[in-house]
Amino acid sequence: MRVGLLTGGGDCPGLNAVIRAVVRRGLREESTTFCGFRSGWAGVLAGEWVELDRKSTSALLPRGGTILGTSRTNPFSNGADGVTPVRESMEKAGVNVLIPIGGDDTLGVALKLHEAGIPVVGVPKTIDNDLGATDFTFGFQTAVQIATDAIDRLHTTAESHNRVMVCEVMGRHAGWIATYAGMAGGADAILVPERAFDVDALCERLKVRHKSGWSFSIIVVAEGATPIEGSFSTIAQDTDAFGHARLGGIGDALAQQIEEKTGFETRVTVLGHVQRGGTPTAYDRVLATRFGVAAMEAAIGGRFGVMVGLSGTDIVEVALADAVSSPKLLDPGLYETASVFFA
Ligand code: F6P
Repeated sequence: MRVGLLTGGGDCPGLNAVIRAVVRRGLREESTTFCGFRSGWAGVLAGEWVELDRKSTSALLPRGGTILGTSRTNPFSNGADGVTPVRESMEKAGVNVLIPIGGDDTLGVALKLHEAGIPVVGVPKTIDNDLGATDFTFGFQTAVQIATDAIDRLHTTAESHNRVMVCEVMGRHAGWIATYAGMAGGADAILVPERAFDVDALCERLKVRHKSGWSFSIIVVAEGATPIEGSFSTIAQDTDAFGHARLGGIGDALAQQIEEKTGFETRVTVLGHVQRGGTPTAYDRVLATRFGVAAMEAAIGGRFGVMVGLSGTDIVEVALADAVSSPKLLDPGLYETASVFFA
């Protein structure tokens, strides 16, 4: 068997740990070799790959990013026939199994290739944790830890200056990072894409809190959070090859509203890509390793068209179609628990 790996979409701490685990598990079988396509589907289309072996995948466990590079290239964009060039490239590289590591976009492509008869096993990846059919994705916990550390730091400076601090975190469609980091950091409000927020109500709550003796407040806002219609607008940005809007700007717009409506001095911190960089936490290294080993075992067993996932504490195989059908939105019960601590 010759396996072709690729990493697609936004990078994420733990990608390299998956690559290492796939190769290490595969090398326990006879005559298994590996190559890594460069820059996601872009490298498959361009026929650019590197050999992967024991040596070239050594020391990858703690390393952030992806040694293969990544992109948001979509072989099927604008109605293109993505299957033929992928098949040709696989033939050139001598690859008979693909293991793409990615989110709904990368795995959506994998599903189309599977439907065309190409042997594929998917590995879920997104720091947003919004991919279906898996309880958690690696990288999420690392992002939450980074955001929590930042919120802790914002607390002390907020308190010293009597300020409202708005901390904008990632989360395009789902407020998992915002809710976990907000709960862990003791936020006074958490704003998520799943629930449009009322800025007037928020400001009233902040006023009550500040009248009751607190001189500062911490608000965590997911980049995809939106105010209720007609209240205020945020800046629209461009879109990528999968049609996703590039977000950013809600933190600034919100801070301006808060300052205007409450008179409280307000500052914004946009954590951005800091959340995706650097070394994965121990939890994410273990999850990534388990996913990599399980993906290779699915390939060895000839089980294709599946994605490995986490169900409770078990690693499972699920149909790719189930994984990409709809995003996994925030658990409403978790948000209710977080809201017990809101201002
Ligand atoms: O999908 C993961 C993610 O980190 C989102 O949270 C964020 O909106 C997006 O990627 C940012 O993408 P880029 O790195 O292309 O700016």
